[in-house]
Amino acid sequence: MNAMGRTFMNPPLENPLTLLEAEIERLKGDGVKMMMVDFHAEATSEKIAMGRALDGKVSLVVGTHTHVQTADDTIFPGGTAYLTDAGMCGPEVSVLGREVDSVVWRFRTGLPTRFPVAKGPVRLCGVMVDVDEETGSAKSIERFSRLIAEESAAE
Ligand SMILES: [Fe+2]
Repeated sequence: MNAMGRTFMNPPLENPLTLLEAEIERLKGDGVKMMMVDFHAEATSEKIAMGRALDGKVSLVVGTHTHVQTADDTIFPGGTAYLTDAGMCGPEVSVLGREVDSVVWRFRTGLPTRFPVAKGPVRLCGVMVDVDEETGSAKSIERFSRLIAEESAAE
């Protein structure tokens, strides 16, 4: 246990769901109607659970972090738009944006190396949501994944 009374093996972390619910209530009290939650997390189960828990409380729950867009865009019964992961904006021929050869070499050898940012055309991934300004409920959700030609990306 350290001087602050915390253990290093099991630190007392705040619960993101209860913190979010309290913050949402505070914002609603200030008159905010449209809210978006970007849930930066690894596990799809955590993101889905967060989306379901916040259904009807916010306009959109969208996950980030994995770099890989999911295909589960939907509007939950309470009116919250949801997507488990929005995907990456970055080089198409890459491993999560890094040069393929260096990442493959790392996995093959287990030795440390640099991971330069890959070059070439980029893919733009994301999500567009239409929200009712009066209620904060989502009216539609559309994910997109577009390859941007190198020439137009440089403009
Ligand atoms: Fe991340």
